[in-house]
Amino acid sequence: MKTLIKNATVILPGGAAETSVLIEGSSIAAIDVAVQTAVDNVIDATGMHLLPGVIDDQVHFREPGLTHKEDLAHASRACAKGGVTSFLEMPNTLPNTVTQTALNEKLKLAGSRSLVNYGFYIGATTENIEVLKHAERTPGIKIFIGSSTGDLLVDEQDALEKIFADTTLPICAHCEDETTVRANAEKFAGSTDVAVHSRVRDHQAAFIATQRAIDLAVRHNHPFHVLHVSTADEIELIAAGGDLISAEVCPHHLLFNIDDYKRLGSLVKMNPSIKTRLDNEKLWQALLDGVITVIATDHAPHTIEEKQLPYPACPSGLPAVENSLALMLDRISQGLCTIEQVVKWMSSEPARVWGIQNKGKIEVGCDADLTLVDMTLKQVILNEKQETKCRWSPWHGTELTGWPIATWVMGHQVFRQLEGQSEFDHSRMGHELRFVNRGLRDR
Ligand code: DOR
Repeated sequence: MKTLIKNATVILPGGAAETSVLIEGSSIAAIDVAVQTAVDNVIDATGMHLLPGVIDDQVHFREPGLTHKEDLAHASRACAKGGVTSFLEMPNTLPNTVTQTALNEKLKLAGSRSLVNYGFYIGATTENIEVLKHAERTPGIKIFIGSSTGDLLVDEQDALEKIFADTTLPICAHCEDETTVRANAEKFAGSTDVAVHSRVRDHQAAFIATQRAIDLAVRHNHPFHVLHVSTADEIELIAAGGDLISAEVCPHHLLFNIDDYKRLGSLVKMNPSIKTRLDNEKLWQALLDGVITVIATDHAPHTIEEKQLPYPACPSGLPAVENSLALMLDRISQGLCTIEQVVKWMSSEPARVWGIQNKGKIEVGCDADLTLVDMTLKQVILNEKQETKCRWSPWHGTELTGWPIATWVMGHQVFRQLEGQSEFDHSRMGHELRFVNRGLRDR
């Protein structure tokens, strides 16, 4: 099967070019304005931009075990609609992904249910060091240094030292200091004001845990990725950490702050918590400065009924995977960044950090994971149009300029938007991602 995407502005590793892209099977076969070959399918993309598909390295898709909130079929459709062609999913499902068997089981499920490409982290416990040492078919190890949704937690120094010392896979962590969070929670016990969440999970909690994790990584010479940075204070730590350290920020930590509790209540209750307007600004600047290099969503759906429980019972987490690219394209239309930067943050850097080969860039021979976007299209995010199973968005009612309108996964078109309607092709599933793990390669 050959598809020609003609006359797009294509975001190549060296910059934008008006050209055409030939897909043959699952790969990019040519990038040439004058392709002369018989094809099965021609897409006239004049006026559109063609980007490498987004790689979201932090999502919670809830399968198995929590499928009343989300499942792989809904979540991967949401990905396709949002221009996300690959995801890396977190281990706090039921059962937790803390054994090779549980990880293999998830891979098997995804093989028959996920429209887009998939990978799954192996979760750390205080007892599964042998599993972590020998884990296969995974991008890396996830540690909850502070607890969040679910019961995964590794807080003891000895256990952390052992994981950083004895394993070779890259490590990423949820960094909020458990002791600080527990002490704060006691201080605010009895309060039903959701805004208190940002005082329980405060700046100090994030700083202490990120400092502790980076110290472990540097001492043990271990590649380490700081998930969902939420404070300005952590930026210095990341910058000082050197080449072993990478970091990401989520749209909600860039776009929401404590003022938004008034309007959105528990819909913006997240771990790490949302912080201040100043943190929003400094985190954005850290992206522009290249200290933080990845944008990921931490897509963490809960049902609206669960979210409406009074604080503190309402769970932490919000869905974002189908709107993250559009939220960033809108920043381009506001003149706040360039399309090349968005491609770096959402495609090429996640591919580099996790050693995902042949993805994250548009180059001959790479996988044809592609997203066509209309930078002039204005659309409003509406709960009733969400593909995520929980069917709500904290950005409900927000108009954005710039939207994905078509998505290819391994050369197969899985999504297109026609006159405002989403169309999906479920005839082929995504592929298991392969990793050249930095840890294994370098040590
Ligand atoms: O707010 C959050 N929700 N943060 C996390 O780290 C986990 C997530 C979830 O799984 O619900």
